[in-house]
Amino acid sequence: MAIKLTLGNAKGGVGKTIISNLLAFGLAEKGYKVLLVDIDPQGNTSMISNLKFKLSEQQPYLIDGLFSKNLGPCVQQLKENLFLIAGDERTVELDKLLPAKNKVMYLRKYIEEIEDDFDFIFFDVPPTAYSVFLNNALGASDCFIVLTEAAKQSFDGISKLYNAAVAVQEKFNPSLDFLGVVINRREKDVANFGILEEMFQVSTDDMFFKTMIPSRTRIGKYSEHGVYNFPKSVNSIKGYDKWDVEVKDCINELITELLERIGVEKLETVKSKIQV
Ligand SMILES: Nc1ncnc2c1ncn2[C@@H]1O[C@H](COP(=O)(O)OP(=O)(O)OP(=O)(O)O)[C@@H](O)[C@H]1O
Ligand SMILES: [Mg+2]
Repeated sequence: MAIKLTLGNAKGGVGKTIISNLLAFGLAEKGYKVLLVDIDPQGNTSMISNLKFKLSEQQPYLIDGLFSKNLGPCVQQLKENLFLIAGDERTVELDKLLPAKNKVMYLRKYIEEIEDDFDFIFFDVPPTAYSVFLNNALGASDCFIVLTEAAKQSFDGISKLYNAAVAVQEKFNPSLDFLGVVINRREKDVANFGILEEMFQVSTDDMFFKTMIPSRTRIGKYSEHGVYNFPKSVNSIKGYDKWDVEVKDCINELITELLERIGVEKLETVKSKIQV
């Protein structure tokens, strides 16, 4: 059994793709087996992966696997412990496959057939709430996280995504857990929860992850060059420079909090059972 997660926001461009990728990289480096599933027809996770690890031209993509009712052959290895089911614009055809009676739990059964090979599975979803892509990712997930920028528009997207997830949980997937909200692109003036609370009039008790991700040019570069693949950094020891290390440290802190929020009980079900 794997722990399956979706990072969402009903607003686009908040960092869902890059942060899902960075978390997947970080967990893989800790020894967990991690699968990224690109269910966004924009195919951004697949494009980013292709920048660093040329994707296989032989292997089928997500939509091919769903048409042939077997996702196994779609899983491609990117590096040690890190795997991808690639997707592209053809994923829009998913709608054709969904039975009229239940358009939410379709992906889940095919993920269940392969999940035992992994400890964590991340679904990279598009920004639209209630889309078949988001719904199928949430139907297949154990946990969801809302990722937001510390800006009013993105905060509006929190409740849209949250309501969409609760609708899936109530009708289809009762075991779906809300793990909290992660703030991305934290600006200096919203460095503490008190200010956030004042700005957005939300109770911050347990809702927000304590780890917030700052805005960093390097994170933007990963979308252009591949994760931890900034051209200049290949010259440094271990292939990372200080800007990579800064991002890695922040992502590791986020992973520690993520694992705490997932909880010991669920973590014990994963195969590798590595203590971090
Ligand atoms: N903390 C950050 N610092 C700097 N750049 C960032 C940060 N987070 C995200 N970005 C950049 O912002 C852009 C949008 O991020 P990303 O593609 O991950 O967003 P998204 O939510 O997946 O978008 P979409 O809704 O279109 O799928 C990318 O170029 C990414 O590298
Ligand atoms: Mg994206």
